[in-house]
This record gives sequence, structure tokens and C-alpha cells, in this order.
Amino acid sequence: MRRQLNSNQRRAASVLLGLAGVCAAIMCILHGAGPVPVQAQPKAEYVDPSICADCHQDIAATYRQSGMGRSFHRVDASDRTASFNTHNTLFS
Ligand code: HEC
Repeated sequence: MRRQLNSNQRRAASVLLGLAGVCAAIMCILHGAGPVPVQAQPKAEYVDPSICADCHQDIAATYRQSGMGRSFHRVDASDRTASFNTHNTLFS
């Protein structure tokens, strides 16, 4: 036979149901944030070509004469070819 709950028991049951709902909402919010992506490998960076020249001297010597080899260097103001002092015409 089914037992009837008294008013205190009903109140306790509704408080427990409310707490369960709040916990479920918090879990949904936390789960919705999702896992933080992790980089699988360390960030790749350029290697100074002079390191390659230790073993590949012939290739390094000819590479330095190529357009790509001459473009590969750290940029600084001394080798800037563009003029930023005059009003340049821009074509778009
Ligand atoms: C410690 C010495 C050493 C350094 C430093 C080195 N290499 Fe090598 N590299 C070798 C050797 C040895 C081989 C194999 C050569 C062979 O099998 O004939 C090779 C092979 C290569 C090959 C294949 C060549 C071919 O004809 O198949 C490339 C491309 C290459 N290296 C690029 C580089 C680059 C770019 C760097 C610098 C980031 C570098 N190497 C630094 C020793 C070195």
C-alpha cells in the first residue's frame, strides 16, 4: 500500500528536487563550457639558416644567392626599401 507524505516530508522533497535542479543547471553550464583545447605539439618556430650551414655549406652558399635566401632575414629599419616619409600613391 502506498504511504501518503505529510506536509514536512512534501516540503523536504520539494527542497531536494529544487537542489537537484540547481545542481543539474550548474553541471550543464560547466559542461557547456567544454574542454579547453590543448596544443598537441609545441609551437613550431623558424630555425636560423646559419645552423643548417654548419653541415650543408655548399647548399647554404647557393641558397644565400637565391631570392628566397636573400628574403629570409630579420627585418630592421636599415634595409627598408619603401619610403614612408613622402606621400605615396596607393592603388587599390
Ligand atoms: C649536424 C649536421 C646537419 C645539420 C645542422 C643539418 N643537416 Fe640537413 N642533413 C644532414 C645529413 C647528414 C643529411 C643526409 C645527407 C644524405 O643522406 O646524403 C642531411 C640531409 C638534408 C636534406 C635532404 C637532402 C637530400 O638531397 O635529400 C635536406 C633538405 C636538409 N638536410 C636540410 C637541412 C636544413 C634545412 C637544415 C637546417 C634547419 C639542416 N639540414 C641542418 C646533416 C645536417
